[in-house]
Amino acid sequence: MKIAPSLLSCDFSKMGDEIIRMDKSGADWMHLDVMDGHFVPNITFGAPVIKAVRKYTKKPFDVHLMISDPLKYIDNFADAGADIITFHVECSSDIGKTIEKIKSRGVKPGLVIKPGTPASAVVPFLNKINLAVVMTVEPGFGGQSFMPDMLLKVKEIKNECVRLGIDVPVEIDGGVCEKTIALAGRAGVDVCVAGTAVFKADDTALAINRLKSLA
Ligand code: DX5
Ligand code: ZN
Repeated sequence: MKIAPSLLSCDFSKMGDEIIRMDKSGADWMHLDVMDGHFVPNITFGAPVIKAVRKYTKKPFDVHLMISDPLKYIDNFADAGADIITFHVECSSDIGKTIEKIKSRGVKPGLVIKPGTPASAVVPFLNKINLAVVMTVEPGFGGQSFMPDMLLKVKEIKNECVRLGIDVPVEIDGGVCEKTIALAGRAGVDVCVAGTAVFKADDTALAINRLKSLA
């Protein structure tokens, strides 16, 4: 199981140091939550901030776009140094065009579904993406409770991949902690985003290690 700490829960006044701390603590990917105050009721940071902190690690930047019109900003996030760009199937951009745009920039595309969206919404795109993301909380804020029913969608996506003869890693995002990660492991999740569970721990290396061993 890969762990991608969500920088949403870091100390924004020293984001570079926080990335170094996560790198040293054994994080596999850095998860960067971009919110526009329109697609979700919260605003975080954009491409200039991601570009500024890119130099603090060589680990992959997993950029989660919770924005209404991602297609318009793909160049900005690619220029900022994103390795993976995920965006929501519920957004207003053309999904196919956005996937192609991300690929054209040499970045890996991923599609995210909100809790109210069925797994079937990502199925038509499975052969075109490098990551499927199932939200296990409503997007917008860190520190919410894990929604275990969402793991049924992980299983549906995994089954569909087997049927299609492809292997698309599945990430879950939201509410992952020591109490919930075993369920994710059993459902076949490949990557877990964890904000609160990692950043609020006294020892982040121990927290990441424990999450991995419990999965
Ligand atoms: C929610 C974000 C998540 C989330 C993770 O909109 O996409 O990345 O904040 O934080 P925790 O682990 O605290 O739920
Ligand atoms: Zn996220």
